[in-house]
Amino acid sequence: MTRNTILANEARTVVSPGRVVLGADAVSHTGDHAALHGDTALVLATEQIAEFHGDTVLDVLEDAGVETVLYTDVRPDPTVENIEAAYDLWEEHDCDVIVTLGGGSSIDTGKGVGILATNDGSIRDFAVDRAGYEGVPNPTPPLIAVNTTAGTGSEATRSVVVSDESTSTKFLIVSQNVVPDVAIEDPKLTVSLPKSHTAFTGIDALTHAIEAYVSVNAYSVPDGYAESAMERIARSLPVAWANGENLDARADMMVGQLQAGQAFTNSSVALVHGLARPLGAQLHIPHGLANGLILPYVVEFSAMAAPEKYAAVARILGVADENHGTREAADLAAQGILQLCEDLELTRYLDDFGAVPSREEYLDVVGEMTQDAIDSGSPDNNPRKPTADEIENLYVTIYDDALAPDSPRRS
Ligand SMILES: [Fe+2]
Repeated sequence: MTRNTILANEARTVVSPGRVVLGADAVSHTGDHAALHGDTALVLATEQIAEFHGDTVLDVLEDAGVETVLYTDVRPDPTVENIEAAYDLWEEHDCDVIVTLGGGSSIDTGKGVGILATNDGSIRDFAVDRAGYEGVPNPTPPLIAVNTTAGTGSEATRSVVVSDESTSTKFLIVSQNVVPDVAIEDPKLTVSLPKSHTAFTGIDALTHAIEAYVSVNAYSVPDGYAESAMERIARSLPVAWANGENLDARADMMVGQLQAGQAFTNSSVALVHGLARPLGAQLHIPHGLANGLILPYVVEFSAMAAPEKYAAVARILGVADENHGTREAADLAAQGILQLCEDLELTRYLDDFGAVPSREEYLDVVGEMTQDAIDSGSPDNNPRKPTADEIENLYVTIYDDALAPDSPRRS
C-alpha cells in the first residue's frame, strides 16, 4: 500500500493553527494579532514564566492598544480549578481574546477557558470519555499561543489535557474547535529553558513525531510533518541541550516541535503515550521524561510491525544507512533513541524527582498502570497491538533497565 492510498479513497480534515508567526522576535507580533480581535486580552501563564517573559508580552499588547488581565496561577499540570478561576476573570473583565504564555500547561488552560466561554457545561463534560472525540460544539474565542518551550506542540493541536484533583486523574478533550488561531513561535523565548526541560520537551516532541509516523492512522500529510520534525530534532536537540544559547538550534527545535504537533494531531500518538501517562502519574515525573524512559522499548517492541517506517526513523537518527536492509535498519531505531537519551543524560534527571519506588512497590502498581494504558485507547493506534501481558512486560523491562537505581541506563 502506498502512503497516499488513504487520500485516494477518502477525504481527511487536516487541522492546523490559523496562523503561525515563526522566528526571532516573533513575540513582537502578538499585539497586532490580539488587536484584530478586540481590546481586552486575558493573559495566562505560570508564575515562573510570567516572571521571565510577562513584561515582554504585556508591553507588546499594551503598545497595540490591548488592555490585559493577567492570570499567573497556571500549574504545570493544569487543573479544573485553574481553568475555572481563569474563566471567572474572563467573564469579570469581559475579555475578547485569550493569550497564553508558556508551554502545554498554559496553552491547555487557555483552551479550557475558551471552551467554557462559548459552550454550556463544566469543563469535565467535554472529556472524550463523556463527549467523545470532537465533543466541543462551538469554537473557542480567538486564542493566541505564545510558546516558550520546544515542546508539546499544543499550539497546533486539537488536544487539551486537564488534571482532576478530586479523582487524581487526568482527562483528555479532543476537538478541532480548540486549535489555536495564532501560534507565536519565538526561539529567543526558549533560551531560558534549563537543560533538563530542554531534554524533556525535546524528547516529548521526538516521541510525537515517531508515534504519529508509525501510527495506524498515519497518512501522507502528517508523515511529511513527522519526517521533517524527526530530522530537525535529531540534529538540533543535542546542540540546544549542550548550548542553550545556540539560536540556530533553538529555532530548528521550535519548528521541529511544531511539526511534531501537527503530525500527531492529524495522525495520533500511540503506545508510548499510552504507557507514559500512568508511569508519569505514579513517579510524579514530567511527561517528556516519562516518554524518554519508555520510547526505546516500545520502538524495539514495535519495529517488526512497521519495518519501513522504523527503518526511516533509524536512518534519520543516523544509526542506519542505505546499506542496511529494511528490517535490519528498523531494528536499529531503538539504539538510536537510546544514544540520544544518553547524550542528553536523561536518566540522570530522575534524581530531581525523588527516589523511584522499590521493585516490589512498582510491581504492585503494574497491573493498574497497564489497565490505565489500555483504557486511554492510545495503544490501539500502535502498529504492533500489545496484549495486556505484553504491556506489563514492557513496564517491568523499563523498571529493570531504566528506573532501578543500579539499572544499566542509570549506572
Ligand atoms: Fe506528549
